[in-house]
Amino acid sequence: MRVLGVGIATLDVVNTVAAYPAEDAEVRARAQRRSRGGNATNTLVALAQLGHVCDWAGVLADEPDAELVLADLGRYGVGVAHCQRQRGGKLPTSYITLSESTGSRTIVHYRDLPEYPAAAFAAIPLDDYDWVHFEGRAVPQLADMLRRVRHHGPPRCSLEVEKPRPGIEQLFGLPHVLLFGRHYARSRGYAHAADLLRALPRGGALSCCAWGEAGAWARNGAGLISHSPAYPPPQLVDTLGAGDVFNAGVIDAVLRGLPWAACVDAGCRLAGRKCGRVGMDGLLA
Ligand code: FRU
Repeated sequence: MRVLGVGIATLDVVNTVAAYPAEDAEVRARAQRRSRGGNATNTLVALAQLGHVCDWAGVLADEPDAELVLADLGRYGVGVAHCQRQRGGKLPTSYITLSESTGSRTIVHYRDLPEYPAAAFAAIPLDDYDWVHFEGRAVPQLADMLRRVRHHGPPRCSLEVEKPRPGIEQLFGLPHVLLFGRHYARSRGYAHAADLLRALPRGGALSCCAWGEAGAWARNGAGLISHSPAYPPPQLVDTLGAGDVFNAGVIDAVLRGLPWAACVDAGCRLAGRKCGRVGMDGLLA
């Protein structure tokens, strides 16, 4: 199927350390890598490995680090014809400390780039796609883009709600699939994924909420709740981007017409595979 992803690409500078350092400590990294990251492009790279034809709509700064992003997306055949080149600015950069003892990732993120504008999205021919996935970022722009997709539909669409953003709740009635993160649920005062899902207004959307090692919960349009366990790998190696890969697993399963409870299970299985390997390569190996 043909999937368009709207959101960011980043440069990730990942330092692997034996254990997470204390503040004001000086420690040696055991390994370092520079790779492309960013939620929407991570999800697209996973979907491409599942056999989908993917395009990215986002903003690239006109600077040398953008080449790394383009080269990586090119390796997976993710199209960039709808991305915008911005003169000046800096590619969003994440400085990430990956702890070998726990597999946790701590991110310090810097960005100096505008969000992808709804005006650019308006020029993308939606007939070219079966699915549009949005990263939950600039709400006013997203409202326009989601409404355009719903008005046009097909394609169907999903919205990732990983973190709190002012007014993002006003978008919840628009996508076919809502993909919540633990960070968002906690920010709204929910200690449990199912509590967030139960509190959502009734509607046609499939809503999922991933909860790390506890797996993920889903709620269908009729309000039924289902839980899938996590599928941890024999050795937890790298959890960076696991949520983005979970989203890809859910979207792929919905596109394949799987029953709703099997879709959240598919997301957990794919995220588990990701946690067993460094980076995004070889998710199906
Ligand atoms: C992982 C990730 C990283 C990126 C950061 C942006 O989910 O997309 O690749 O640096 O989150 O918030």
